[in-house]
Amino acid sequence: MCGIVGYIGKNEKKEVILNGLKELEYRGYDSAGMAIYDGVELRHFKAVGKLENLSSKMSDFTSAGAGVAIGHTRWATHGKPTEINAHPHLGEYSFVIHNGIIENYKELKTELEKAGVRFVSQTDTEVIVHLFEFYNKSASSPFEAYEKTISRLQGAYATLLITKAAPNVVFFAKNAAPMIIGQSGDEFYFASSDAPLIGLCDSAIYLDDGCYGFADTSGNLKIFDSDKKPFNKAPTALSKDKGYAQKGGYRFFMEKEIYEQSAVASECLMGRISGDEVCLDIDESVLESRDEVVLCACGTSYHAALTASYLLERLAKIRTKVEIASEFRYKSPFLNKNALFVVISQSGETADTLEALKIAKNAGLKSLAICNVDNSSIVRLADAVLLTRAGIEKGVASTKAFATQVLVLWLLALRLAKMRNTLSPSEFSSETEALRGIPAVLNFAPALQERIYRICKHYLHGHGFFFIGRDIFYPLALEGALKLKEISYLHAEGYPSGEMKHGPIALADSGLYTIALLPSTCLYDKAISNAQELAARDAFITAISPEPFELADDYIATSKHSHMMSEFFEMMVVLQLLALEISVRLGNDVDMPRNLAKSVTVE
Ligand code: F6R
Repeated sequence: MCGIVGYIGKNEKKEVILNGLKELEYRGYDSAGMAIYDGVELRHFKAVGKLENLSSKMSDFTSAGAGVAIGHTRWATHGKPTEINAHPHLGEYSFVIHNGIIENYKELKTELEKAGVRFVSQTDTEVIVHLFEFYNKSASSPFEAYEKTISRLQGAYATLLITKAAPNVVFFAKNAAPMIIGQSGDEFYFASSDAPLIGLCDSAIYLDDGCYGFADTSGNLKIFDSDKKPFNKAPTALSKDKGYAQKGGYRFFMEKEIYEQSAVASECLMGRISGDEVCLDIDESVLESRDEVVLCACGTSYHAALTASYLLERLAKIRTKVEIASEFRYKSPFLNKNALFVVISQSGETADTLEALKIAKNAGLKSLAICNVDNSSIVRLADAVLLTRAGIEKGVASTKAFATQVLVLWLLALRLAKMRNTLSPSEFSSETEALRGIPAVLNFAPALQERIYRICKHYLHGHGFFFIGRDIFYPLALEGALKLKEISYLHAEGYPSGEMKHGPIALADSGLYTIALLPSTCLYDKAISNAQELAARDAFITAISPEPFELADDYIATSKHSHMMSEFFEMMVVLQLLALEISVRLGNDVDMPRNLAKSVTVE
């Protein structure tokens, strides 16, 4: 995800910006750049890849003297990770950096092109700098031009702009993307999160949505709110601990990533649903004339694949197979040339999945990668790619990557359903309506986490866990069990509820914890009967359901929803929090569990 740093002051600006961007590296990025006015000249530098590339491009450059600087790390959303698309974006005499997505950029771009402006990048961001220079031709001041520019933007933005028209000034604006400003004497610091400011300022102002303004080298800072009234929010003291700041105030990256799921789900869906249509950002020829889908992945990504198999068969009525990549590689698989081969991987580097993709490609199958890391090995190899846009995931136990994989696979199932004409218009629109509601479903109150923390003390002993569910709640049960084993080191299994009586029920006694997923929209009565069978054998039952279950020893209430995928995503959060809080109570390293790695590049 993109990062922003800005500085006004006398110190070596290049170093201030590079150090600040370094603090944001953990968010992930694929290019970086900065623009600096050192009191004499306005210069800019960009580089694809790591910050070291930018730093070495600037090795001969120094920027002493009072001035302004802005820097950016970019995680590609509109356009490939190239130097042209890297920020800052240049007008004729101004530079802009931006986080977020300008939703009306196409219409602004058309308007500016009609006025003779030439665009060079594929980004949405570039419209900001051209709009500013366009208004600056007639405005009474650069600030008035900036104010007009911001008033035209729709969507999410945290943005900084510097210009020769006001060389000692940084203009800033924020809407639905974070931006903070710190001051130390007559120096100002800007950033998209507090990590770059730690150690440089004691406190910072967290801008509200709709805020904009400017600061300059004479120590002036003017901030206005969305009603153009002065914004006088008091600065907030900054933490002194950089690690804490990177975690956004959460104790663990995994915890932060669970809370981020609502925001990344919005990002994942952005531009992919329009009215009642699903628009996939791929060349759809890979989807045409397919009579089968083969999904192939490992671990959590395999659970996303299993979930998708229900969606693809139910919605798109297409035969679907799911393969564990490490098994697929050596089973001499029978491959149908008309199948679409879909690999799912958060890292894009998993050796088994990569090899499976090579096998399918060599057999002449069309392939699609669903991945979180652009330019990864799997992305480079596949015929088509849908990025999950979850941002970098630091916690080894995957959370937001899984959520976005399932979302993208659901979108794929709907797109295939449309192409194959397997849903009625009303069925289709109830799907898109449910999809749109997922970011809200993923937005949970901290009270849920507190409740889960309290009940977790019941689960620290006993001889194991069974997570049970039916239909799509079976792969979710598998995922809940995997999350728990990974970070608690307790024995946990996921099982289809109806399968318990075929063997595993022999384990049931008061020391067996059963986490029963009992959604009201999906086979509720059947799932209840299965839970009753376990309760009758004295198993400890934790019911996760919108309906109270009288035989439950613990009950976690979820909301009533009309669509089973909404229940799926809400229960997913409950299971993630359950694993997290049990691990916390056991004193384990949540983010770096023993024996595990984030990217499994060995067989
Ligand atoms: C579990 C987890 C792993 C990965 C698996 C595949 O939390 O993260 O099970 O899902 O190693 O990795 P990717 O998705 O990178 O191919």
